Amino acid sequence: MKPINWLLGLLAIALIAVGAGVFIWSGAYNIAADNPHWPLTERLMSTLRDRSIAAQASDVVVPALDNDSLIRTGAGNYDAMCVGCHLKPGVERSEASAGLYPAPPNLTTRRTDDAARAFWVIKHGIKMSGMPAWGLSMEDEHIWGMVAFLRQLPDMTPESYRELVSASGGHSHGGQEDQPQDGGDKPTDAHEEETKPRSHDDAPPHEH
Ligand code: HEC
Repeated sequence: MKPINWLLGLLAIALIAVGAGVFIWSGAYNIAADNPHWPLTERLMSTLRDRSIAAQASDVVVPALDNDSLIRTGAGNYDAMCVGCHLKPGVERSEASAGLYPAPPNLTTRRTDDAARAFWVIKHGIKMSGMPAWGLSMEDEHIWGMVAFLRQLPDMTPESYRELVSASGGHSHGGQEDQPQDGGDKPTDAHEEETKPRSHDDAPPHEH
């Protein structure tokens, strides 16, 4: 290639980079959660997410999950930390589930078939979404409990769900649940977050 072609190529790349910089710095991009992506961006992002999780979770070894006590512990933790976003039998919508973008999947209707994927997502969370990394405050065993529970969740009625949760002993995860919540460290913070959706959900209806 002639030197002039190289120069033109470099100039084009520099112009694109400057254009991108100006676009970012100008604030023209609308980052609002109530302003959906273009279909192409949506497709690119969900492919990026799915391929990343598949690759990252490929060496996760799935233990036996058909274990009643594991499922029961998972129910207590799910009820304490996840219902605000992922709902529970009899609840079809919450303010968080309706307002988050990307939307949290309704785990009472979407069956959790891929246990390794679910474990990895619960443990590490998903960037640029509301899904937290629970592995910062929970032991693997307790995360597996929630995976075991999620596999059963779509078959539950509001009654069977409530019974299982009350038999579960509530919130227990080998993390910081018994420590006072006055510190500023990460697990304690995550803890404060996680109790919000639940108290919100169980509270009497409030006015807007
Ligand atoms: C603040 C809201 C929020 C809370 C609380 C939350 N999640 Fe999520 N979760 C999300 C969002 C949003 C996604 C989807 C992210 C995406 O698609 O990029 C998600 C995705 C998931 C998925 C992946 C489904 C899949 O295969 O694509 C699982 C499993 C999951 N969450 C389980 C849980 C569990 C278990 C808890 C409680 C310990 C929990 N989540 C708490 C918001 C939340």
